[in-house]
Amino acid sequence: MKLAPPVLKLIARRSHTLWDYFYVPAKLRSDPVYEAITRELTGSSLPVLDIGCGMGLLTHYLRESGHEVPMSGFDTDQRKIASAQAMARTAGYGDVVFKVGDACGKLPGHQGHVVIVDILQFIQPERQVLLLQDAATRVAPGGKFIIRSCLRDSSRRFRITVLGDWLARLTRWMNHSPVAYPSAAELEGHLSALGLSVTIVPLWGGTPFNNHLIVAQRAA
Ligand SMILES: C[S@@+](CC[C@H](N)C(=O)[O-])C[C@H]1O[C@@H](n2cnc3c(N)ncnc32)[C@H](O)[C@@H]1O
Repeated sequence: MKLAPPVLKLIARRSHTLWDYFYVPAKLRSDPVYEAITRELTGSSLPVLDIGCGMGLLTHYLRESGHEVPMSGFDTDQRKIASAQAMARTAGYGDVVFKVGDACGKLPGHQGHVVIVDILQFIQPERQVLLLQDAATRVAPGGKFIIRSCLRDSSRRFRITVLGDWLARLTRWMNHSPVAYPSAAELEGHLSALGLSVTIVPLWGGTPFNNHLIVAQRAA
């Protein structure tokens, strides 16, 4: 379910900078990923680990949609983690933990759902495979490993996404450069080999990007 404008405003008021005050509701309104993940997780009480959580926006979307499960997230960007911690504190959320951490290192202990939104492209292909393997061990029986990623293909959308990622880097909005985008076949192959059943659907929304939602579920 889409969050109503007054709820987006409520979340925006938790921001600690003027930029974030305008960015947060615009991002939550325009990017279909938060609603799509909320739909996937609704009805489950398993905790959620958000790898590369940025400012923790998924947590706000889930909680304001009534999804009260324990949430943890980490990101390499200290500034974003400080914002995530401050916003969650202002919201008064319990059972929410944000830390600085690197998806290329050892992942924190966790059993539940695992989410990765828009970070695979910043990681070398061989490390992406290790990350998928490590993250999959944290997916509990009945749990989902949900990934949103641009997929490498020959489309115009793909080229626009690469350009967008480089612009984000050059304007210093992102402090990582894109290095490799997985193809649908690669992700499907890796995740199936890890014992998960995989579905991949486009998640374009109103954007020009080649984003897809990959849901890999472990049998209950
Ligand atoms: C496009 S943002 C997405 C943020 C968040 N997932 C969201 O959807 O709101 C990508 C994030 O990945 C983070 N990131 C990139 N490489 C990472 C790594 N190796 N470990 C953890 N976070 C990483 C960046 O710092 C950035 O916050």
